[in-house]
Amino acid sequence: MQKSEIKALVAKMTLEEKAGLCSGGDFWHTKAVERLGIPKVMVSDGPHGLRKQDLEADHLGINDSIKAVCMPAACATAASFDRGLIKTMGESIGSSCQHEKLAVVLGPAVNIKRSPLCGRNFEYLSEDPYLAGEMAASYINGVQSKNVGTSIKHFAANNQEHRRMSSSSNADERTLREIYFPAFETAVKKAQPWTVMCSYNRINGTYASENKWLLTDVLRDEWGFKGFVMSDWGAVSDRVRGVEAGLDLEMPSSGGVNDKKIVEAVRAGKLDEKYVDLAVERILEIVYRYVENARPDTPWDKEADHLLSAKIAEECMVLLKNSGALPISKTDSVAFIGEFAEKPRFQGGGSSHINSFKITSALEAAASKSLKVKYAKGYDVAADTATAEMISEAVEAAKSAKTAVIFAGLPDSYESEGYDRKHMRLPECQNRLIEAVAAANPNTVVVLHNGSPVEMPWIDKVNAVLEAYLGGQAVGIATVNLLFGDANPCGHLAETFPIKLEDNPSYLYYGGEGDKADYREGIFVGYRYYDKKKMDVLFPFGHGLSYTTFEYSDLKLSSDSIADTDTLSVSVKVRNTGKTAGKAVVQVYVGDRESTVLRPVRELKGFEKIYLEPGEEKTVEIGLDSRAFAYYNTDIHDFAVENGSFTVEVGESSRDIRLCAEVRVESSKKIKKHYTADTIFMDLISDPEASAKIGPLLATIKNALHAPDEDKSEAASEAVTDDMGMAMLNYMPLRGILSFAAGKMTDADIDKIVALLNS
Ligand code: BGC
Repeated sequence: MQKSEIKALVAKMTLEEKAGLCSGGDFWHTKAVERLGIPKVMVSDGPHGLRKQDLEADHLGINDSIKAVCMPAACATAASFDRGLIKTMGESIGSSCQHEKLAVVLGPAVNIKRSPLCGRNFEYLSEDPYLAGEMAASYINGVQSKNVGTSIKHFAANNQEHRRMSSSSNADERTLREIYFPAFETAVKKAQPWTVMCSYNRINGTYASENKWLLTDVLRDEWGFKGFVMSDWGAVSDRVRGVEAGLDLEMPSSGGVNDKKIVEAVRAGKLDEKYVDLAVERILEIVYRYVENARPDTPWDKEADHLLSAKIAEECMVLLKNSGALPISKTDSVAFIGEFAEKPRFQGGGSSHINSFKITSALEAAASKSLKVKYAKGYDVAADTATAEMISEAVEAAKSAKTAVIFAGLPDSYESEGYDRKHMRLPECQNRLIEAVAAANPNTVVVLHNGSPVEMPWIDKVNAVLEAYLGGQAVGIATVNLLFGDANPCGHLAETFPIKLEDNPSYLYYGGEGDKADYREGIFVGYRYYDKKKMDVLFPFGHGLSYTTFEYSDLKLSSDSIADTDTLSVSVKVRNTGKTAGKAVVQVYVGDRESTVLRPVRELKGFEKIYLEPGEEKTVEIGLDSRAFAYYNTDIHDFAVENGSFTVEVGESSRDIRLCAEVRVESSKKIKKHYTADTIFMDLISDPEASAKIGPLLATIKNALHAPDEDKSEAASEAVTDDMGMAMLNYMPLRGILSFAAGKMTDADIDKIVALLNS
């Protein structure tokens, strides 16, 4: 339907009908307006598969949802560093939505992993905004290519579950713009999601659902978002204020309570009806975009998607450590230990929980390849215990095998939507089991099923660790393929694994005090902090091993000096120097070498995943635009680049930098400075324009401040050298002249100087 037709339709609606359309008809549907033939459409979680609930929906998923395919969760898919792969996953989810008559899938969830403790980290992509944005955009483009919408969530700064519906995420402007917003910004600019879901929390005191700055000024006016904003389920506080702020659809239904408030506010002249019209237009545009492109005859081959899910999981798992036990030879004896080998944990709890039509465990996958594997349960997940018998059975199995593979990880109750983790440890019984097995077999391998980092007190005692994350319902197939070398690990960490929780930059403040969650670590989130502090970590951001090795050479920049309006092209050669085909993740990090503001040592600004046969070499090219060099300048409320030299590093992780080059970038933005009597001399002198303006005055000022040199005693000259005098002048504000010039200058003189500087 054309925009004009939608406007005409809205013009025919009564105020009551319009207000009604601004909230859901039930848990999962928009409202229909039968009088005008306006249909309702259905939305559904998401994001890594469908959680389409029956009519008896209850939001928390106690009622069964339809049988569907559970793909790997975002904690895993981000580790693929593979835009194409995520797009393919999105396409498959989009097709299944078409089949199931779903207009919008509620995802992707892109909130930044501020702390390993966030209960929903398994649903989120990364600690890095660039990576999260790229992956989100790819997912959205995939889903929406099937004419089904997405709802990127939870906008914004929803980084904890603790008090999630009342807490205020208090972060400074630069931190929001550089860390917590860009994933949304990139997704809007590169993929234009049909909808955005605003978060439960407040941001600096104002609920996201009634935050005009967030939902209108930033999202629409600055980034150009064209769809509609829906609330997270129950995130509405003041509905009327929300309409004005740009919250179009309240979800789920408020049973008419809030619709009535909208009508009353309009009638009382407290809310301009144009805001209601705008919200309805935006909702209808999406409703009709789906309805006019609905293809319920789209087939949904769940078996094919199960295999796709296995393939995706294979590309996501991260080989954290390998001292040679992997890959396992198929002719060697192997023991699988741990209940997760039989019943894998492959997804997280809460609204993203999918009713899988089929699950393949590692034991089943090994059996289907006719691999002879001994099994010992090792621990009981439900009871969260490992009895002495279980451990001794596991040790015996380990002793009798060449390789012992322990399937460990977090039980469901350890991480879920709705609450945060209490600590970063594995269950104590599993740590005990790992220690005992590792002592019995030098070829002990640990496979981890978890949605966010865990401490690994046994890391030096085991031979290898494969991070399987929450790998979706076909996780067993992928795990076995990787363990036995039928596939080569190629996932890289989308988050840092700190050695211990206390190392994390948000540790002191995370969770906040009452409803105040202060983001005091600012922009120093994840590796931005660990690198700046030169801290040891367990596994760095970007880390991931392979069964082959890659050599990097010939790093070239298209120029050694650019304007910030240019795009710098970075090219590097990568060669597979091993005997196995594999995929390398080429990561490009940028660092500002001479910055006047606080900046991280390096930030990911480009990446590419490439496949290489043994001996093969490819040249990878990655473009860096101005944003790659910029920081958010709070004086001009915009991103800006500072003149100077930048490092361009290419590596396999944030701590494994293979090559480095330098480029000079000249800023094209003229940032007008504002001077006052409080401006210090150093800031004046370092600004060429200001310096030129006050140059002629400097001598007068110096004279006013100092006794002439010939009057100074030798002792006085030694006590305060010219350099020292200059240093003291550096930090002196303009008004300071009055205090030291013994009446030779007046307030009027200072005012004149300030006026001249600002002229
Ligand atoms: C979650 C959303 C989800 C919605 C609908 C909320 O509790 O925060 O992520 O999409 O429920 O299930």
